[in-house]
Amino acid sequence: MSHLDLVIKNGTVVTATDTFTSDVGICGERIVALADDLRGKREIDAGGRLILPGGIDSHCHIEQLSSSKVVCADDFFSGTVSAAFGGTTTIIPFAAQHHGQSLRQVVNDYHDCAGPKAVIDYAFHLIITDPTPQVMGQELPALIRDGYTSFKVYMTYDNYQLDDYQMLDVLSLARREGAMVMVHAENHDMIRWLTERLLEKGYSAPKYHAVSHPRIAEGEATHRAICLSEFVDAPLLVVHVSATEAIDAIRNAQSRGLKIYGETCPQYLFLTAKDLDRPGMEGAKYCCSPPPRDEAAQDSVWKGIRSGIFQVFSSDHAPYRFDESGKLAKGKEAAFKDIANGVPGIELRLPLLFSEGVNRSRIDLNRFVSLAATNAAKIYGLYPRKGTIAIGSDADIAIWNPDKAVEVTYDLLHDNVGYTPYEGRSVRGWPETVLSRGRVVVEDGALNADRGSGVFLPCELSEAANPNGALSPELDPRTNFGAEI
Ligand code: URP
Ligand code: ZN
Ligand code: ZN
Repeated sequence: MSHLDLVIKNGTVVTATDTFTSDVGICGERIVALADDLRGKREIDAGGRLILPGGIDSHCHIEQLSSSKVVCADDFFSGTVSAAFGGTTTIIPFAAQHHGQSLRQVVNDYHDCAGPKAVIDYAFHLIITDPTPQVMGQELPALIRDGYTSFKVYMTYDNYQLDDYQMLDVLSLARREGAMVMVHAENHDMIRWLTERLLEKGYSAPKYHAVSHPRIAEGEATHRAICLSEFVDAPLLVVHVSATEAIDAIRNAQSRGLKIYGETCPQYLFLTAKDLDRPGMEGAKYCCSPPPRDEAAQDSVWKGIRSGIFQVFSSDHAPYRFDESGKLAKGKEAAFKDIANGVPGIELRLPLLFSEGVNRSRIDLNRFVSLAATNAAKIYGLYPRKGTIAIGSDADIAIWNPDKAVEVTYDLLHDNVGYTPYEGRSVRGWPETVLSRGRVVVEDGALNADRGSGVFLPCELSEAANPNGALSPELDPRTNFGAEI
């Protein structure tokens, strides 16, 4: 009798750096063998299939209260089920502080939500909106040591925004402790000023959300955030980048050897501002910040993906139902500024990138894997437990049929949002079988995972945030960052 619990046979294994044929042997929760002709108690035939690391969605909002106190549609059950069906086996949502809250209490509250419900593994980023002396002096350093090694700060939103002085405090603390700062970079006053001018003239439809968040606001804030990070010599990851101006600022910083990292999302490749101009309030479904832009910006984002300016491709799944509980919480005819910000994408993130990236030869499979999983694992301190297929790593695996054609419709999906912005789109390439720590959690279109079977992952310090340590080539600005293609 074989000592292997499970063997995946006859497939092609793809990591961020290699593509090879091999069986994958799993014992318990781990990968223990990569070799030919393995035998196991159970065997899965992956002939004609690709064996990829399970995806890591390192930017998603689950069971979170927005800055204007609207609740996300997905809890840790529906959110993680939906992620798993899309080939993702780890999520890193946010434990979001609101003003006046203790960060430790916030983290405990999110654990109470996630623990009994998650079906795949999860870590947490923190959102810091109220950097009080108690938070900065005690709670945050202690939380970093407990495995919460990355945190997001906002340069916009009335209730979230930090000023530059506070940003410097957060960045310098991150530098001292070896943590990673993520930034939502948009110029708050430009947005606020433009919003007031638009509303004065009666321009309140959803399409004006895109007008009120101009590219220059993203470009300016991205440049400023980079300057602040350079000033205190702290690495920085700019999240949900949409505009050419922001991409240029990141490329410029990377070409100067700064540890500036970039994340982009499906909405900036597959949606445009025209989607916000759909009839009636339909456009509300596409309101997110920064907003989708135009075809030229989509091209810039693809170029950034191909050339290595972006290390991370996340969903920024910010799920709000198209009703009074979510998008329309402020009324059926709410002005654009009162529409809950965010679009869903946790399940389609990888199929969309695979279809339009790999199957249209814009990126190769290895870059797909680095964007989908490996780089996030490295940047957020989960590597090599997560994000690769290697002996000793968790058996988090997605077996992809690279040719499976799917017409996207909401009924296929498993989230609780009620619509998808990608309705009607055709994709080719789909994750058919998904393993989380050796458990086959998705197979033949069915879920086989208990509520609460996912575990919390304390994160190590990011290798990107270690001022003295060696960097992987993918995270080293001196290698491929910002190369022209
Ligand atoms: O519109 C978005 N992206 N909503 C989610 C919150 C955020 O800023 O990431
Ligand atoms: Zn954001
Ligand atoms: Zn977000």
